[in-house]
Amino acid sequence: MTPETKQKLTDAALAVRKNAYAPYSNFQVGSAVLTEDGTIATGANIENASYSLTICAERVAAASAIAAGHQKIQAIAITSPGAAAPCGACRQFLAEFGTEIDIILIDAENPQDFQETTLEKLLPQQFNLKKD
Ligand code: THU
Repeated sequence: MTPETKQKLTDAALAVRKNAYAPYSNFQVGSAVLTEDGTIATGANIENASYSLTICAERVAAASAIAAGHQKIQAIAITSPGAAAPCGACRQFLAEFGTEIDIILIDAENPQDFQETTLEKLLPQQFNLKKD
């Protein structure tokens, strides 16, 4: 990923975070995925009064990419207070669409402060149904 693309992905995550619907936790998360062909799809967390129906920003972004016809994800940027890492469910959800996904974690309150990791590191030995 070029530095320009990384910046675009980060900016997209920061921008979409403003659309988070998080009245219960007040913890707004923004996410942007970069697909194989360079398309960027975004998502923010969407909470629900039932609590358990809440959808994380990462899954909204990935679902948006899939719905737009892009089934391979190469990178994801996630921004939240304190640069939280994706939850376990989101890690497995992302693993469906790429085994070598680069992950950028950005502190929403200090966007210059970011960390880089990979899905491989955060979710080793991912579950899949492929019989190789
Ligand atoms: N959340 C995300 O959007 N992504 C994560 O990886 C973890 C948590 C959201 C869900 C909920 O709306 C809020 O953060 C607090 O858990």
